Amino acid sequence: MNARENDDLIDKAVEVLKENDRGTYTVPTKGLYPFQWNWDSCFTALGQGYYDEARAWTEIETLFQHQWPDGMVPHIVFHVRDDGYFPGPDVWQTGRPTATSGITQPAVAGFAVRRLYERAKDRESAAVRARALLPKIDAWHRWFYDRRDPRGEGLVAIIHPWESGRDNSIDWDAAFARVPTHGVAPYQRRDTQHADPAHRPTKEQYDRYLWLVQHFRGLCWDNSRLHDASPFQIVDAGFNAILIRSCVDLADLALDLGEPALAETNRQRASKAIAALDALWSEPHGQYLCLDRLTGELIDSASVGGLMPVFAPIAKARAAAIARTIEKRAAAARFIVPSHDPADPRFDAKRYWRGPAWLVVNYMIADGLTAAGETEVAARITGSSLDLIEESGFAEYYDPLTGEPLGGGRFTWTAAMVLEFLRAA
Ligand code: GLC
Repeated sequence: MNARENDDLIDKAVEVLKENDRGTYTVPTKGLYPFQWNWDSCFTALGQGYYDEARAWTEIETLFQHQWPDGMVPHIVFHVRDDGYFPGPDVWQTGRPTATSGITQPAVAGFAVRRLYERAKDRESAAVRARALLPKIDAWHRWFYDRRDPRGEGLVAIIHPWESGRDNSIDWDAAFARVPTHGVAPYQRRDTQHADPAHRPTKEQYDRYLWLVQHFRGLCWDNSRLHDASPFQIVDAGFNAILIRSCVDLADLALDLGEPALAETNRQRASKAIAALDALWSEPHGQYLCLDRLTGELIDSASVGGLMPVFAPIAKARAAAIARTIEKRAAAARFIVPSHDPADPRFDAKRYWRGPAWLVVNYMIADGLTAAGETEVAARITGSSLDLIEESGFAEYYDPLTGEPLGGGRFTWTAAMVLEFLRAA
C-alpha cells in the first residue's frame, strides 16, 4: 500500500468511528448493536485517540460510570431505548439506574488505558484521567478474582458464553449442552433481522443463552451466588490472558502515577494467574485450551482463544510455539487468524466465532507476538488484516478462506483496529 492509499484508509476509518459516535459512547454498529459494549469501547478509544484524545478518555470513563457497586463492569450499557436489539433491559432486569446487562466481558480496560496514557500528547490531562480510572479498574480486577475464582485457583471463569466475547465458539459446545432449554419465555430474535441467520448463532444456542440469563435473574444478579450456581463455568485461556495483561499494564501505570500498593496487588494477581495458565497448555495442539471447571477437564477445541494468551507475558517458548501454530493455520486459510482451526471438521468459515477472522483478535495476537520477538508472524497478521480491509471494507468479521465480509457493516472496532494496524505496518 502506498502513502496515498494509507491516508485514504485512515480517512475512511475515522469516518466510521465518527458515524457511530453518540457523544459520550460509541455504538459498535448501527442497527445490530445500538448501545455501548464493554470491550468494544476500550478498543474504540484506541482509535479515537488518534484524532481526539479527550474523546477517547470519555469513551472509557462513560463505561466505568456504569460499573456496579460490587466492581463488575457490565458487558452492555443500555443508554437509550431501542427495540432493535434483543435481549434488552426488560429481559435482563438488573435494576441499575441506567439499565445494563448482568454479565461482564473481557477486561481490556487496563491495557487500553495504559496505551492511551503512554501515547497522550496532553500529558497533564492524561495523568488526571488515568489516575481517576486506576481504582475503578483495580476494583473490577478484584471483583474478577473474588467472584470468578472463589477457590483461589488463580484463573477466573466465565459463566455465560457472551462474557468471553466469542459468543458461539466451538469451545462452549460440550459444556453448553448441559444448559437446559426448557422454560425459556417466548422471544423474538433481532440479530437475524440485521444479519444473515447462517452467519449467526443457532436457535438452540439462543435458547441456552436466555436460559442462563433467566437463571441469573432469578438469583437477583447476586454475584456472590452466580458462579457456583451456574451450570456453565469455563476457564477461558484467552479471557484470562486479557485479564492478566490488564493487571500487568495497570501495575505499570500505577507505578508511574505513584500508586505502588495498587501496582503490587495487580502484579501479584498476574504472577499467580500466569503460573496457573500453564496447566491449560496442550502440546498436541500447540496452543492453550479452555478448562471446564465443572468436569475438571480440558476442552478439546483448538480455537483462537487458545492463541490469545500470547497477549500476556507468557514464557518465550510458549509464544514461539503459538507462532508456529499460526503459521500452520496460515497454510490452510487465505487470511489469518481464523477463529477456529480450519483442520477441525467443526470449523465453519462463515459462522461468527466458529471460523471467521476478527480484527480485534488479530490485533491482540500481533501485539503479543511482537513483544515476544516473533515479529515475522506478527507482520503477517497485520498484513492479512489490512488486506481484508482493502478487499472487503470495515466488516464485523470475515470468512478466512474467501475474505468475504460478514455480519454487520461499518463496524467501529474494526475501524479502530485499522488505525492501529496502519501505525504498526
Ligand atoms: C458480538 C461479539 C462481541 C462484541 C459484540 C458487539 O456479541 O461476539 O464480542 O462485543 O458483538 O460488537
